[in-house]
Amino acid sequence: MADILPGNAPAPVGSMPLNDERDIVQCRAAVRQLTAGLKFSLVEQTKMITAASELARNTVIYGGGGRMRWEVVQQGVRAGLRLHFEDEGPGIPDIEQALTDGWTSGSGLGMGLSGSRRLVNDFSIDSKVGEGTRVTIARWK
Ligand SMILES: Nc1ncnc2c1ncn2[C@@H]1O[C@H](COP(=O)(O)OP(=O)(O)O)[C@@H](O)[C@H]1O
Ligand SMILES: [Mg+2]
Repeated sequence: MADILPGNAPAPVGSMPLNDERDIVQCRAAVRQLTAGLKFSLVEQTKMITAASELARNTVIYGGGGRMRWEVVQQGVRAGLRLHFEDEGPGIPDIEQALTDGWTSGSGLGMGLSGSRRLVNDFSIDSKVGEGTRVTIARWK
């Protein structure tokens, strides 16, 4: 969070740890600040924050901790925010199943991955059993 100073433009790239509930709160605040800095509407901000929150929680709970990396990106005239949620945890054996509405291996609602996919413009999962998981999302203004 040291990379984001209140009132200043957020750093265009950065990384923060995701190891516990407090980090998830920090992550939400960081994504709020980044999207506000990009002049996302409140609805757009909320979509990205909600998706980030779900993915950060998965990183903590299922991935055994990891990090969020962010990049402010430009595609032609469109500015956007890309977020990577990374861990070196157990990985996801069946990604299609994990993306199914309502499917959970734990005690969740099974709506985190599927829900966040619907809230963003770009969504990808890269996961290897025994190596870890990276979920990448982006929203464009
Ligand atoms: N980072 C991760 N590492 C390992 N498994 C994961 C990870 N993220 C998600 N999963 C798997 O995908 C399932 C679905 O995730 P999600 O849709 O967020 O639902 P929930 O969190 O309610 O279980 C999880 O139950 C878990 O088995
Ligand atoms: Mg979840």
